[in-house]
Amino acid sequence: MAETIMVAGGAGYIGSHMVHQLITDGYDVVIVDNLSTGHRKAVNPQARFYEGDTRDGQFLDEVFTKENITAVIHMDAFSIVPESVQNPLKYFDNNVIGMIKLFEAMQAHAIKYLVFSSTAATFGQPEQSPVGDNSPQKPINPYGESKLMMEQMMKWVDQAYGIKSVALRYFNAAGALADGSIGEDHQPETHLIPIILRTAMGEQDKLKIYGNDYQTPDGTNVRDYVHIIDLAQAHILALKYLQAGNPSDAFNLGSSHGFSVQEILQAARTVTNKEIPAEFAPRRGGDPDILVADSSRAKKVLGWKPQYDNIHDIIQTAWTWKQKHPQGYQDK
Ligand code: UFG
Repeated sequence: MAETIMVAGGAGYIGSHMVHQLITDGYDVVIVDNLSTGHRKAVNPQARFYEGDTRDGQFLDEVFTKENITAVIHMDAFSIVPESVQNPLKYFDNNVIGMIKLFEAMQAHAIKYLVFSSTAATFGQPEQSPVGDNSPQKPINPYGESKLMMEQMMKWVDQAYGIKSVALRYFNAAGALADGSIGEDHQPETHLIPIILRTAMGEQDKLKIYGNDYQTPDGTNVRDYVHIIDLAQAHILALKYLQAGNPSDAFNLGSSHGFSVQEILQAARTVTNKEIPAEFAPRRGGDPDILVADSSRAKKVLGWKPQYDNIHDIIQTAWTWKQKHPQGYQDK
């Protein structure tokens, strides 16, 4: 019988791709999501869906009682950097308290494995690039701080209760399932690639490039864009790694290539064959100059082999999704 995995946040952008990959690989999947940012239409029909909040211990208890879950993949944190700067308590409430409740329920039901969506934002303004797994973690925004607190909780929970965990620190998750059936739909959208594609469709006049005076070659922020399906595959490898008896750990996941905002814009112009007007605008709060991953440990230790190593291919998958779903899921 197939093993049952809970995906907390399985109706979200990253979660829906995670669920797809688990089902493709033969797992049985339980989704928990409060649909605050996730979408009912992104819920995979082959998974069992429980609508509720991970801060609600009784709700979690009911799900764990009903289902024979062996491991949890946690991807239900809020994750928008500028929003977290404006509303930090929203982030500490949802992210940190949600994690406490999840761990309490996992402990009560003797669930021993957790794979957690952490983030490059835990590193803040890294002193070195690319950023290795053991680089100092000094977040510069509340989102990154909340995820660092969650990572720290994982260490002590392992020590006290023996719940083994892997934190996967993504750099910039991008793209969509290649057939365009699921993809990125945030309300409001703040992420670069979907905003560029929205501009390509004529839904807004111009892309605003937030800051051109950063310490980077062209003055715009440099980020490491990693395909969402490559991320999903890393979670399954991390789960297998823990189940094979390995200790708790943390890995950085990126493509190891940095692209400036202007380079992403140029690549999107090539992929879409559209002009995509843009203008420089003031800096946004909380943006570090450069974030590029050193993912060598994930490759070596977990055996991670990312399939997408070309930014045009990554943007193409997001473009396919956008063309098939110009208004997103339209379920909000
Ligand atoms: N940007 C623009 N114009 C826009 C939107 C974004 O210039 O309209 C710029 C941003 O200033 C930033 C870059 O594009 O320099 C990427 O911004 P995103 O909002 O797409 O992504 P972030 O780098 O802010 O954050 C993302 C995730 C976080 C994660 C982080 C890790 O949202 O959860 O990547 O690198 F922590």
